Amino acid sequence: MSNRQNCDSGCLSPLELYERVTTQGDKVRSLKTAEAPKDEIDTAVKLLLSLKLMYKATTGQDYKAGSPPTDFTPINNAPAITEDDDFVDPWTVQTSSAKGVDYDKLIVRFGSSKIDKELINRIERVTGQKPHHFLRRGIFFSHRDMNQILDAYENKKPFYLYTGRGPSSEAMHVGHLIPFIFTKWLQEVFDIPLVIQLTDDEKYLWKDLTVERAYEYTIENAKDIIACGFDINKTFIFSDLDYLGMSPGFYKNIVKIQKHVTFNQVKGIFGFTDSDCIGKISFPAIQAAPSFSSTFPQIFKGKEDIQCLIPCAIDQDPYFRMTRDVAPRLGYPKPALLHSVFFPALQGAQTKMSASDPNSSIFLADTPKQIKTKINKHAFSGGKDTIEEHRKYGGNCDVDVSYMYLTFFLEDDDKLEQLKQAYTSGALLTGELKKALIETLQPLIAAHQERRKQVTNEMQALAQALIEEDHGE
Ligand code: TRP
Repeated sequence: MSNRQNCDSGCLSPLELYERVTTQGDKVRSLKTAEAPKDEIDTAVKLLLSLKLMYKATTGQDYKAGSPPTDFTPINNAPAITEDDDFVDPWTVQTSSAKGVDYDKLIVRFGSSKIDKELINRIERVTGQKPHHFLRRGIFFSHRDMNQILDAYENKKPFYLYTGRGPSSEAMHVGHLIPFIFTKWLQEVFDIPLVIQLTDDEKYLWKDLTVERAYEYTIENAKDIIACGFDINKTFIFSDLDYLGMSPGFYKNIVKIQKHVTFNQVKGIFGFTDSDCIGKISFPAIQAAPSFSSTFPQIFKGKEDIQCLIPCAIDQDPYFRMTRDVAPRLGYPKPALLHSVFFPALQGAQTKMSASDPNSSIFLADTPKQIKTKINKHAFSGGKDTIEEHRKYGGNCDVDVSYMYLTFFLEDDDKLEQLKQAYTSGALLTGELKKALIETLQPLIAAHQERRKQVTNEMQALAQALIEEDHGE
């Protein structure tokens, strides 16, 4: 099945299209009032007409000023299947290519924007900081409205960060750290509040887990997340199972979102069917709510208009497309987003990793020896079969998992480039490239484990303090 033919509007949602038509209509009017040159007016009118056509093609209705679309099936939001059969939704990521998912196609399909050199330069200019290597290397590759966030920062307007994790097992692997490492950097650079949602409710609904077990996973995962070193005074980490029942601000936003999203819409966005339990069907409202500042009155003092920036893996985008769709109807700003690529499994970039297969990645609790053995035994190699051939033809970094992991974790640009060149030319053998990865990951994970050990008490205190404060509201 291919949905690409439905995507000629750049995958804008009906509401986004509606807004574009409205803005373009305003533009045409003001050009006419200002008696602008005829060709300028003509171009603007042409664009207006084609936007109206797209609106009709998407919603089946004519555009009517003043009445935004309410009930529709957002065909453009259906799970992303590209021509080459990449499949991406919040639960499944599949591609047939050893290089991994085609991210440029995903940008077109999802209607997001590429994080290009210009944006990276602007981030550098505005913050005065060298952009994180996740930005420089295209690991965070796509965004929505990041320029708005930079405008806010320049104008000293407040905004905040929101990210999260679904705790599906006790063990987190290095890939799970990617959004958190990047979020920590963003918090440092912008010096802003951060909320972290642990969706143990989501995992209970989707997996074969008891509520109690899901909550235990939350507690263990929270330690790993806190060990990333966020600003304790500006970070609120919470479990849905724990916190939702005691936060009126949160619940009010959940029902507001629920009232403004139809079953048709979530079916279109998430592929739910009539036999999915109603918990799943209403869950997207719970992941959407933290995108609005009024969800956290204890942090934002009741302010409703503080914009949110969400760093996440691209598979989470459907939740936030839905969120951005409802935001204007609730009178809230749309959250901005920064999307990351998927972290490849040791066996190759074809699939997202599974936390239930211990050999599919390096786990945060692995010993130095386990790290070494796993990489040597399981990391898919882009090298040639024999040393002679390898020396002659060189290795292929595009499919080599050890090299891919190094792009995530080896910060030194020069060293990474040297490794790439040596491997590609055949001067460096697979075993030597693997050794470089082992030597990068072992100290990194040891340091993480050390920080995690110190977390326990601090974490309890932090979670407790913020929840008590909320009680006082
Ligand atoms: N659904 C996400 C997961 O399964 C968890 C999550 C909740 C999240 N809120 C988020 C991820 C915000 C990124 C940003 O991992």
